[in-house]
Amino acid sequence: MQLSWLAVASYLCVASSFAAAAVNPGIPVHLRIEGERETIFEGDIFTRGHNVTTPSGGTHPCNGLNDKANTLPGATCTSALADAARRKRFTFDGTFDPTFDDFFITAIGDSVQTATQFWGILVNFQFTPVGGCQQEVRSSDEVLFAFDAFSKTHFLKLSGPRTAIIGKPAKFTVIDGMNGEPVAGASVNDQTSGADGTVLIDFTSRGTKSLKASKFDSIRSNAVEVIVV
Ligand SMILES: *[C@@H]1O[C@H](CO)[C@@H](O)[C@H](O)[C@H]1NC(C)=O
Repeated sequence: MQLSWLAVASYLCVASSFAAAAVNPGIPVHLRIEGERETIFEGDIFTRGHNVTTPSGGTHPCNGLNDKANTLPGATCTSALADAARRKRFTFDGTFDPTFDDFFITAIGDSVQTATQFWGILVNFQFTPVGGCQQEVRSSDEVLFAFDAFSKTHFLKLSGPRTAIIGKPAKFTVIDGMNGEPVAGASVNDQTSGADGTVLIDFTSRGTKSLKASKFDSIRSNAVEVIVV
């Protein structure tokens, strides 16, 4: 059998572009951005490693290969931030440090860093050991950008039922996602969590409610959606 060089060449070309795509596939990443006064973004965002541009930092690759942090390119914390900003139309800024080979995020939405308050990046409730373009993420990861992250005591995590019935108090639990400890004194739907982190909520109307836990010394929690019937 004779294969033309053209056929072989185009086969190799297709095969290598599949291989390249497999190396840096787009994935949905769970991203949450907790600003100074409100949640700026919370949801899944489709992202892959790519160039990121900021007003103060310019354009740089942001695919996990920054500072040789990984051997294969992939989706990163900051590529997810950039894609969410573009799609949901909020702004962000960051300076670029060539030594560090990464952006240093200075502002997201109207939450701008100060002399004492900085943006922190966490994956699965732990501070990332590297910058946001070095930190690659998987679809199962929870990426969190948190304003004033370094002076907060707790990173709240809320859990509870998906459905509730009017007249029957539903139990929600507030913990610190970093260490799993219950957090007392957090506010959920105008109720306050007790020593064991739980709070009972009596819904008075039907519909889908989105609840978050908040506390003055803590980063507010993820949202829990509950359908009240
Ligand atoms: C990414 O940015 C670099 C400059 O940092 C540039 O050289 C390169 O061409 C850009 N790549 C793409 C695909 O735009």
